[in-house]
Amino acid sequence: MQVRVEAGDIAQLEADIIVVNLFEGVTQPGGGTGAVDQALDGAISELIGLGDIRGKRGELTTIHTRGKISSPRVLVAGLGKAEDFDIDAVRDLSANIVRHVRKPGISTIATIAHGAGIGGLDAAGCAQAVAEGAVLGNYRFDLYKKADPDRSEIESLAIVEHDAGRAAAFERAAAKGVAMGEATNFTRDLANEPANHLNPTDLARRATDMAESAGLEHFVMEQAEMEAKGMGSLLSVAQGSVQPPKLIRIAYHGREGEGYDIALVGKGITFDTGGISIKPAAGMDAMKGDMTGAASVVGAMKAIADLKPSSRVVAIAPCTENMPGGAATKPGDVVTAMNGTTIEVLNTDAEGRLVLADAVCYARELGARRIVDVATLTGAISMALGDCCYGIFANNDELAGQVADAAATAGEKAWRLPMFKEYGDQIKGSVAEIKNTGGRNAGSITAAKFIEAFVDDVPWVHLDIAGVDLMDKYNGWVAKGASGYSVRALVNLALDIPQD
Ligand code: BES
Ligand code: MN
Ligand code: ZN
Repeated sequence: MQVRVEAGDIAQLEADIIVVNLFEGVTQPGGGTGAVDQALDGAISELIGLGDIRGKRGELTTIHTRGKISSPRVLVAGLGKAEDFDIDAVRDLSANIVRHVRKPGISTIATIAHGAGIGGLDAAGCAQAVAEGAVLGNYRFDLYKKADPDRSEIESLAIVEHDAGRAAAFERAAAKGVAMGEATNFTRDLANEPANHLNPTDLARRATDMAESAGLEHFVMEQAEMEAKGMGSLLSVAQGSVQPPKLIRIAYHGREGEGYDIALVGKGITFDTGGISIKPAAGMDAMKGDMTGAASVVGAMKAIADLKPSSRVVAIAPCTENMPGGAATKPGDVVTAMNGTTIEVLNTDAEGRLVLADAVCYARELGARRIVDVATLTGAISMALGDCCYGIFANNDELAGQVADAAATAGEKAWRLPMFKEYGDQIKGSVAEIKNTGGRNAGSITAAKFIEAFVDDVPWVHLDIAGVDLMDKYNGWVAKGASGYSVRALVNLALDIPQD
């Protein structure tokens, strides 16, 4: 989908459908909606008078213009009550509109920047949200279905701004929204792939192809180098699979200097059977999404390459299958991580923390001054937070705050959980230094505590996205299947991170 900004009058624009809006309770539309209403000889106000258009949130009314203006259709989108309307509502509305109008006969859309005329909302931010929401809403994953004759594509979206003086700022903002949306869709494509089409080798190839075309530095570490580095924790997960593990590294250098302002580390289990501690059959297919953390950090790098902040960022994704092969790790086995810490593997299904342990050690070796890891780490996070919110865990209040802000700016809900030292007692090893499970109580926190043991004194945040990575329906910017959570939050973070 092409997104562009045009200065002019929305009523004059030619598109398959033009989109205007209405707040609940407004009887005399103004702005772009008013201009279109006039051009249609009062058709919109007439429908308001009849009670057919009320401006309720979610209300979408199509009017046929029958030659009165050059576009054949007008969509009036209800915005709900003005006091409840915010930038997140703009993004969601834009996504919902694209999905609503995407049908045969409609391939071009012209819209006003919803919210831009409202005091208190940043006008350019609204243009970004319209562009971002449209790209996010246009996503679907139908690679493995035969072509549907009724399938239609939205080819272009024009954001029309009557004030020519604002158009340049809108253009920059819309470009940012497109970059954010496309990066998220790239992540969704990776995360939606079934595990037989996306093993660690495939994931590494898709990530490095992206990095190559984006002009990013990239490197894939092979098993021999992992062995040489002593990544015994990561390798203990890989040894049950016939697929070789890969550790993806993608770097962005926004300025000269040493090390990285931030490392983004993503869990890349391309399929999690649980290993010898095998999972029940029901719902195991969802474990093809256990590489969403890896897909998210790789996708974030795509947007970072587009938006070119002056920060230095590295993405690290340890990728492997977790399989119960003949050489698999057995419960009770003791393995040694890259930093020399010995780990008692009590449950081979707690593999995410094992691959992340070596990955965060590697991030430190690369000179990361901050580490944020993203992982579908625990089923327990869904028990705690449900599926509308992900968990934040940190050893540093300042970085935790920056991540929370970055998530809020992306319109993502996230909530910080405690990391009291008492929780660490649950994972003290008896045979080795640390064990990889801490029992049922506070399962997401003890998992985070395990990773914390490998970050040492580097400021670190862990995001447990296991409750939000996959969705069973579309909802605003959130897609069915791989949702896209965390990608834009990571990009916001990289754009705003202090450079030291
Ligand atoms: N990948 C799973 C966590 C998960 C569960 C993600 C459900 C998405 C949906 C993780 O590797 C896992 O199996 N965790 C175990 C940990 C336990 C064995 C300590 C869990 O949550 O049951
Ligand atoms: Mn597991
Ligand atoms: Zn897992």
